[in-house]
Amino acid sequence: MSRLSRRRLLAGGALTAGGAMAGAAVALARDPDTPTPAEAGPVAHGTQTVPFHGVHQAGIDTPAQAHAAFCAFDLAAGVDRAALGRLMRLLTDDAARLTQGRPALADTEPELAALPARLTVTFGFGPRFFAAAGREALRPESVAPLPAFGIDRLEQRWCGGDLLVQVCADDPLTVTHAQRMLVKDTLAFARPRWTQRGFRRGRGTQDDGVTQRNVMGQLDGTRNPALGSPEFDGAVWVDSGPSWLHGGTTLVVRRIRAEMEKWDAVDTAGKEFAVGRRLDTGAPLSGEHEHDPPDYAATNALGLTVIAEAAHIARAHVDSDRQRIFRRPYNYDEPPGPDGRPDMGLVFAAYQRDVGDQFLPIQRNLAEADLMNDWITPIGSAVFAVPPGCQAGGWIGETLLT
Ligand code: HEM
Repeated sequence: MSRLSRRRLLAGGALTAGGAMAGAAVALARDPDTPTPAEAGPVAHGTQTVPFHGVHQAGIDTPAQAHAAFCAFDLAAGVDRAALGRLMRLLTDDAARLTQGRPALADTEPELAALPARLTVTFGFGPRFFAAAGREALRPESVAPLPAFGIDRLEQRWCGGDLLVQVCADDPLTVTHAQRMLVKDTLAFARPRWTQRGFRRGRGTQDDGVTQRNVMGQLDGTRNPALGSPEFDGAVWVDSGPSWLHGGTTLVVRRIRAEMEKWDAVDTAGKEFAVGRRLDTGAPLSGEHEHDPPDYAATNALGLTVIAEAAHIARAHVDSDRQRIFRRPYNYDEPPGPDGRPDMGLVFAAYQRDVGDQFLPIQRNLAEADLMNDWITPIGSAVFAVPPGCQAGGWIGETLLT
């Protein structure tokens, strides 16, 4: 008799009206075939995988996992194109294995690799990667430090980086393990510069696919281009310029502190005015439902626009689909300082074909006059080119380095 049917029989025999659950538990506990906790399989999302190989790197058009680590590295002096090729072959191999639930080569805790929980590993090349590779001519012009904005209070410990490894999964232990394996293999070539950990709602807390709230309580992501849509493809994947980056994209990582104590002091109407959307439903102030298109011209009885001209969504909006950006932000929440002041905000990750054409004009508009600027402060900034994906046998960065 199979283990399953024997267990069912035992459990079924113990079931009595009024004590079904307790009876089942007792019957299972006494069954010598009951797997020990270590053998018991995951009950939810643990074994789910996201393909590693493909035209694009995973972790961009992948529905955002619950946990992320963004790890930036500085290349060691003397690391040249050949060394970068060795590094990227190694990291690609690690990522291809770990994302599919297999240990990395020489994995010191191979058991931890068994539950990938939709793990993705995404690589990005910072401005100085190109000079080290002797490929400066192939660096997209706007893969460079962003210009300074008046709202910035940048701390160097959150800025720059030559190589980015973005690790995302629905389980924080999976992220930690993958991150550790990847960092270990990078140390012969580069030093960690900064690591930013972030989180979203736990998987299963809400239906997949609904817009999530950020730490400020807002529904965040409503007007993102939909994953896999023509608008997404046209805004995110590089399709012109140097061919090495075709199928890739660019990434801006901004660490943006939320001034929570000031935010707490504002009433709901004030918070909604600053963003241009309702806090409860996420609907634009000109509409009723979350996905109603905002009407920026609608006026109230006083003749004033219902959505303020300086509201976040009015300043951030662009008309052309090609000019849009794709936001994939994570929340951060570090221990408060001795004064109890919260240290939280967003690891704001934005993907676009071209930083100069898409991200910069939006960021300029926001820096000039966004009402939200009173409550959000950029403290970190980094820009990366994200190479295309690779097929089995290939490696990430091959199109640039060979
Ligand atoms: C802590 C920082 C930020 C917070 C809390 C925040 C929050 C929000 C919220 C609540 C919305 C409305 C819902 C939605 O469509 O997602 C929104 C929209 C948007 N945000 Fe932000 N945002 C932040 C920073 C930024 C930055 C730095 C940029 C770009 C430089 C940006 C670009 C956008 C865009 C493009 C939209 C959609 C505008 C449209 O309706 O077309 N946001 N943001």
